[in-house]
Amino acid sequence: MASKIIYDRVFSGIQPSGRPHIGNYLGALRNWVRLQDQSKSAFYSVVDLHALTVPQDPVALKSSIHDVACVLLACGLDPKKSVIFPQSKVLEHTNLAWLIMCHTSSTGLNSMPQVKDKAKDTIPKMGLVTYPLLQAADILLYRASHVPVGKDQLPHMFLAKSIVTTLNHSLQTDLFVEPESIIEESACRVCDLKEPEKKMSKSALKDNACLYLDDTDDEILTKLKVATTDCHGIKLSYDPELRPGVSNLLTLHSAFSGMSYDEIIASSEGKNTIQFKREVADHIIEHVRPIRQRLEALRADQGYVDQIVTEGTERAQQEASDMWSKVRTLVGLP
Ligand code: TYM
Repeated sequence: MASKIIYDRVFSGIQPSGRPHIGNYLGALRNWVRLQDQSKSAFYSVVDLHALTVPQDPVALKSSIHDVACVLLACGLDPKKSVIFPQSKVLEHTNLAWLIMCHTSSTGLNSMPQVKDKAKDTIPKMGLVTYPLLQAADILLYRASHVPVGKDQLPHMFLAKSIVTTLNHSLQTDLFVEPESIIEESACRVCDLKEPEKKMSKSALKDNACLYLDDTDDEILTKLKVATTDCHGIKLSYDPELRPGVSNLLTLHSAFSGMSYDEIIASSEGKNTIQFKREVADHIIEHVRPIRQRLEALRADQGYVDQIVTEGTERAQQEASDMWSKVRTLVGLP
């Protein structure tokens, strides 16, 4: 049965800084796959310019950009339905970001999440401070109506919307489209397995804290076995404030099993923590295994993935050139 088209234009991005994890998948990538069938067009970018806001090893970055494209395909993006491309190949992203900088005040930029997360004890570099403006440019360049992201991106999305209002007002136009965020409520914030007060992240400090999409079955089981829970007794309850570890495991269970928290809690009556963790691991393994297997095949077929990315870049370039030429006319650039 054909899916219903609901959205006009979907855009989203993922940074190529390390291996994508289960938080990326549940908070964003799984939605990307669903939305390619529910939109007239979908653009998904490996946002490599964003990755430059923190120090990168050039060899590792290049390989990571390619690998993230493999991961997107392994998760189920279909190149016939989705445009997959590296941000840096389409120079209009930085052109539009510059225009946005010329129309946006610096107020508030220093308290955006990426500065707080990545420049804790240092004076932030300008790239990190202006990062949300480049993100706004990514979205506005494709006139995206909808942007699937995890909850951590909401401050950036809020800013992108306000930039649309500012640009349309100051340039006396309605060219720029206000983007709506699409948040997967059930898994909008997957947390670190060892320090469950924090979101799951590629830069996790502790071993076994992050579940990667290419983890083996054994690695997943081991990580679940040593995941932090608490001493509030064996009975499960969902309370992210008081019981962040248990709540995170419930989130993972629910996201992969499709069961509600109440159903999981009722069905776990009489089980001990080890049995419950094993059950969560089994649900994760069942979903991650086929992704890992597809990923292995794609990693071995560089030519195929390169071809998809080249075609995606051409398609994204057409769209971006068209929009940028309209913007040039609006602002008076020859
Ligand atoms: P990035 O690369 O950090 O993450 C990619 C996507 O994964 C989501 N995500 C999570 N969701 C739930 N739980 C988690 N623990 C978790 N960790 C990450 C993120 O919310 C994101 O949707 N700034 C963006 C990249 C970006 C972008 C854009 C996104 C650049 N331009 C334009 C949308 C539109 C970022 O750093 O995502």
